[in-house]
Order: sequence, then C-alpha cells, then structure tokens
Amino acid sequence: MKKIIVNGGRKLQGDLTVSGSKNAALPIIFACILTNGVSEIDNLPDIGDVRAALALLSSFGAKIERRGSLTFIDTRELSYIDPDVSLTSKIRASTYLLGSCLSRFGRCPMLIFGGCNFSYRPIDMHIDACLALGAHIDGDVITADRLKGNVISFRCPSVGATVNSILLAASAEGETLLRGCAVEPHIDALIDFLNSCGASIIRQGREIRICGRELHGGKITVIGDYIEAGSYIALGLMCGSVRVKNAPLSHMSAVLDCFSTLGATFSFEDNFISAHLSSKNFLSLTTAPYPAFPTDLQPIFAPLMAVISGGEIIDTVWRERFGYLDSLSHFGILSHREDNRARIFRSKIHSGKTVAPDLRGGMACLMTALAAEGQSEIDSLEIILRGYENLEKKLRTLGAEIKIQDT
Ligand code: EPU
Repeated sequence: MKKIIVNGGRKLQGDLTVSGSKNAALPIIFACILTNGVSEIDNLPDIGDVRAALALLSSFGAKIERRGSLTFIDTRELSYIDPDVSLTSKIRASTYLLGSCLSRFGRCPMLIFGGCNFSYRPIDMHIDACLALGAHIDGDVITADRLKGNVISFRCPSVGATVNSILLAASAEGETLLRGCAVEPHIDALIDFLNSCGASIIRQGREIRICGRELHGGKITVIGDYIEAGSYIALGLMCGSVRVKNAPLSHMSAVLDCFSTLGATFSFEDNFISAHLSSKNFLSLTTAPYPAFPTDLQPIFAPLMAVISGGEIIDTVWRERFGYLDSLSHFGILSHREDNRARIFRSKIHSGKTVAPDLRGGMACLMTALAAEGQSEIDSLEIILRGYENLEKKLRTLGAEIKIQDT
C-alpha cells in the first residue's frame, strides 16, 4: 500500500484539466464484451478502477491497446473464464459482468462484488432484471440459454441496475422497455456507445426502449468527470485559486448552485471555470439521483462547509454514507450525525493522520490535509487513485507539497 504525506497550508494555484468520467468509462468497457469487433474509446481515464475492468476483459481474451488518448478494445475472440475474484472484489462495476457475461456467454457467477463499502449496497434490482429477461439462478451461478425482451419497472432509479438492464437487453431477442431508470449523464454515454455499435436504444425521460441487435465495435469519447471537476473546484475554494479546464458544466447545475449558496462566484474563460469566495454562508444540501446534487460529492463538500460557515448534508441515495466523518475528525472537523443527516460545524482544521475510508471520503481527507497547516499523512492512497487520474501530477502542478511512500 502507499501513503501520501502532505505539507499543508500552502496556497494552491494553477490550472488543471478534468479527466474522463470513471462512472461513464466503466459501463462502456463492460459493454465491449457484448460486441464482436474493435472499439475505439477516447479519453478513457487511467485510474485503478479502469485498470481492473480492462484486466477482467483481457482475462476473457480481449486485446487491448492504448495509443495516446485512444484505447482500442478487440473483442472478436472472447471465451468464458471464471472472472478473477481478486479483480472483481476491487471494483463495484464488476456487477456489470452480470449483464455483459450473460449476454455474451450465457453465464455469470454470483461474485464477490467490490468497491466502496460506505453503505449496504443491494443488487436485488440487477438480479430481478436478469430473471425478467429469462436468466435462472443455478446455485452460485446465473445462466441464460437465451435472453428475451421484457418490461422492467424499477422501484427507484439505480445507475447499476439501469446499466445492467441495458447490457442484458441490447442484444437480447425482441424489445425491452425499462421504466423508472437512472438518467445520469453516464447512462446516456453508455447508450451513445452501444448505438455506435449498432444497438437500437432510445431514452425518453426515465424510460428506455431497446430493440435487441447484433453488435459490432463502436466509437466514443468518454465525457468529462463532473465529480472530479467538483472536487477540484472545492479544493480551489479551500486552498487558493484553481482554474479547472473542460468541466462538464451542463451536468453540474445542482453542484454549481450549492457552491453559489456557500458564497462562491464563478469566472468562465475559454474552457476554464474558477471559483472565488465572495461571502460565507451556511449550506444545507440534499443528495438525490441526477439531476439533483450527486451523493458522490457530499463527502467533498463536508470539509468545504467546515472551513466556511458550517452546513448540513442529507443523503437520500446512500443513507449511511457518513463513515468518512470519523476520518475527517482527525483533522479537527466537528460533525454530528443522525439517521441520513449530518450537521457539519464550522471548525478549525489542523494536520492529522488517517487511512482513506473510501474513494470520495479519502479525497475529502486529502483536501483537508492540503488546507491544514503542517504535516499530515493519509494511508491507503490506492483507494483515492481508483477514481482520480494523475492525482499526484495534478496536485504538484498546483504547487502542493506532497510525497508518496510505500508502506
Ligand atoms: N439500490 C437498490 N437495489 C439495487 C440497486 C440499487 O435498492 O439493486 C438502491 C441503493 O441502495 C441506493 C440507490 O438504489 O440507495 C442507488 O444506487 P445505484 O444503484 O444508483 O448505485 P451504484 O450503481 O451501485 C453508482 C456509482 C456510485 C454512485 C451511485 C449513485 C458506479 C460504478 N458507481 O453506484 O459511485 O454513488 O451510482 O450515484 O457508477 C463513486 O464514484 O464514488 C461511487 C460510489
């Protein structure tokens, strides 16, 4: 494992560019399993989760080549092998093997699915979707001789269940209608990619209509990561003056509104956004499925609230996603949690030592360490590197004094 040692309290200043979105890249990679051909993906972020997903594809025989910003994935000669649990247990997106392996190979083991364990993360709607399209549970394996279109209504919007259902239906027999879908920008990115592979998928509001087709290789540019962009805008507000290039602003309305309520004003130049504090206000934010404020940014807003005027977070997506507050308390951040709400008090932050509790919680600790005077240490840096591309390089560009050590 690695740890990051931070000499904090320095003013951070400079420009950085947003990378491709993790949560858009992962469904696209797993969708390649459905295709028979060579796909060309631009702007795939080089992060831990993407490397694990590509390794899973390679284990089925996919040939992967990275050339500059492009990644080519050749899936013409795939054959089934039990997925490596040391990889599937690393990333949550390994749940997408359910849809992709059932479609291509007619089987998928009920694996240990990994990723951040900040909350109980059920997959009942994923399994219901498999069964609705004709799969059967057979011991610890789920199998399907053939998949056939159906109507599926989700009881709440789920990114993962929507992705898996699209993967199951894209090359199934006949037509599938999905109701109550997640509509995050990464869902549209997956639809765009599959349509470039010959699929017939149309989304209207929370309904998605899919006619099964044979799929060939496709082409896509991965959209910018609005969670990464939001993280660096927040870092700029905490530590100095950061200009963020290529932030996908059209996906960030709810996030920009919350920055404004805290007291931020924005400057826009060419493809850059930067934020400055012109007042300091209490913020109450509520997370909910897109287009509302994203749950993945609530841990990032907690330290920002703490150094401005305090605030309140209500998480309606992951009701228990507050474990990271214990880690932030090592840096002086005071909070009180009750049910799915947390009150963040205005706090005097100081240097500290902790272990990254999860991807976004780990980034929240790192941001606090960068803002606090003195030397801090955050262990298990790999957890943060699962979702932030070139983190070390980007922070150094801003003038951060950091050192990475093996532990
Ligand atoms: N849910 C169910 N049953 C299911 C599936 C989900 O009840 O079968 C519920 C969950 O308990 C939760 C809600 O539905 O309350 C939404 O969960 P969702 O399925 O949308 O989450 P996910 O697909 O497991 C993805 C992201 C997460 C992000 C959530 C919510 C990926 C790989 N992961 O997870 O991203 O928090 O959507 O937006 O796309 C992150 O990037 O740090 C991260 C955790």
